Amino acid sequence: MCGIVGYIGSNNIKDVLIEGLQELEYRGYDSAGIAVLQNTDFAVYKAVGKLENLRNKAASFAPEGFGIGIGHTRWATHGKPTELNAHPHLGQSSYVVHNGIIENYQELKNELVAQGVSFLSQTDTEVIVHLFEAYLKTAGSPFEAFKQMRARLEGAYAILLVTTSEPETIYFAKHGSPMIVGRNRGGEKFFASSDSPLIGLAQEVVYLKDGDFGYVTPAAITLYDGSGNPAAPLFSTLPESKLSAQKEGFRFFMEKEIYEQGEVLADTMLGRLKEQEVYFEELDPQLFAGVNEIKLCACGTSYHAALASSYLFERHARIRTSVEIASELRYKEPLLSPDTLFVVISQSGETADTLETLKMAKAAEMKTLVICNVDNSSMVRLADASILTRAGIEKGVASTKAFATQMAVLWMLSLAFAKARGTMETGAIAEQIRHLRELPACVRVDDALHERIKRLSKRYLHGHGFFFIGRDVFYPLALEGALKLKEISYLHAEGYPSGEMKHGPIALADPELFTIALMPKNMLYDKTKSNVEELSARDSTICAISDKPFEKADDFIPIHDREHYMLEFFEMMVVLQLLSMEVAVRLGNDVDMPRNLAKSVTVE
Ligand code: AGP
Repeated sequence: MCGIVGYIGSNNIKDVLIEGLQELEYRGYDSAGIAVLQNTDFAVYKAVGKLENLRNKAASFAPEGFGIGIGHTRWATHGKPTELNAHPHLGQSSYVVHNGIIENYQELKNELVAQGVSFLSQTDTEVIVHLFEAYLKTAGSPFEAFKQMRARLEGAYAILLVTTSEPETIYFAKHGSPMIVGRNRGGEKFFASSDSPLIGLAQEVVYLKDGDFGYVTPAAITLYDGSGNPAAPLFSTLPESKLSAQKEGFRFFMEKEIYEQGEVLADTMLGRLKEQEVYFEELDPQLFAGVNEIKLCACGTSYHAALASSYLFERHARIRTSVEIASELRYKEPLLSPDTLFVVISQSGETADTLETLKMAKAAEMKTLVICNVDNSSMVRLADASILTRAGIEKGVASTKAFATQMAVLWMLSLAFAKARGTMETGAIAEQIRHLRELPACVRVDDALHERIKRLSKRYLHGHGFFFIGRDVFYPLALEGALKLKEISYLHAEGYPSGEMKHGPIALADPELFTIALMPKNMLYDKTKSNVEELSARDSTICAISDKPFEKADDFIPIHDREHYMLEFFEMMVVLQLLSMEVAVRLGNDVDMPRNLAKSVTVE
């Protein structure tokens, strides 16, 4: 989730831009840059790593008087975190910053290269400025060129563009990534990806809608809607506190990250779903060659994603798949063979146990793949190949959107493997791609549902324990639901295969034993139902989550009637995340920073 700022005015433009980026640090980044235009002179500074590095690079830059400027913090999606890939990106006489993913960038880049344009970076963003300048040669005005450029873009973007052709104007366009425009009584104009950089600077802001575009000068904000019609800017007031702004009005980062799962899943899939196949541009097809087995390895929530995906790899790609807990694999003297693809899953890319198993795999000359949320992390740098989940920074220690994006990547990867191995018909793959495209809508939090979960959470604040139960991929989801509850409510919970309850745990059944039963209609419903009835008959308190009514439940949380079990998986995932959060809230716990936990466990 990159961060964007923009400024038009005369009050120390460099500090306004860099301090604005500082307020966006919570969005996560691995490089940053600013471009300032005064008259027709550009000053540009970029740095890899933390903003301090950018400050140091621009230390001698002390602009005075009027100017316009744009700034950016980059979370790498296309191309490594390097200075060359850092924004702003330069054409001949223009700079651009961009948040999002241009899905058709390769096609546009090929077109521009054929016209003789040379590219400096590996990013999708750079096509924007070159395309603008290509149109500038024939368009009647920079804004006309900007409009023509914008019309060619597919994907998600929040763009700011400045050009020496109009040195007092910032051009903007928004689609799928957030952007706001602000103004104050002093006539200064501001842009930012979210509220917090503008608190204390702007008095009024416009929350741009998808499709909005236009330009801002010292005199005015000129706005057009998605149909290209002039639109009157709708001004709002800003929230009071910066921290609440960073949480974008949510109570916790965890809550914000649950609510933004739809948005980040759309990013995760951007450019990777074709009509009838899944395409990872970062994967060399040779990665699949000669692979007869997959071994997945991770810790914690990432282990649950690994376990759930093992069902998908075997079902779709008909390839033997094993799953390991990293801290166990390290010391069990495992049999690691070169024809096995070793896949590590890690949000941080720094978890010590997982990193060590990756080193073991490399030593055993296995092909290695990491599925990670942080580019340039230790695991990304070490593995033969990597797939970024594009979840953006996850600040809640209890992982939510990182898990969701891991699952989406693994589901897609199982289909890519199936295609490579010829184990699924094209039509069957296309149908699953259709379901994948439903994910953003599937995980959107329904206010009524959240309210219902808030209310029923009061019944689950005590008892002698929780069993989360499920079958097939819903067993790893049950493990994940139990972990979520444990780590933020500190109540004891365990995930269990539904079919295993009768082999001992059912001895615990009584009214004080809470069973959270995952009952998808599209996966072994009747089998699960009979397991739950065994518990209900022994008076265990049952909370059933299902798209089918179940009259023997003490509590029932309905999900939508879904066509595919993986859509039921994702919707139940959201229910479990909300349930654990609301129980923790009632217990007065620190939802974002639970006791004893760290966001990244970099020690054994
Ligand atoms: C998840 O809610 C936990 N915070 C924890 O289990 C985490 O998933 C685990 O430590 C692995 O972290 P990683 O994904 O960064 O490797």
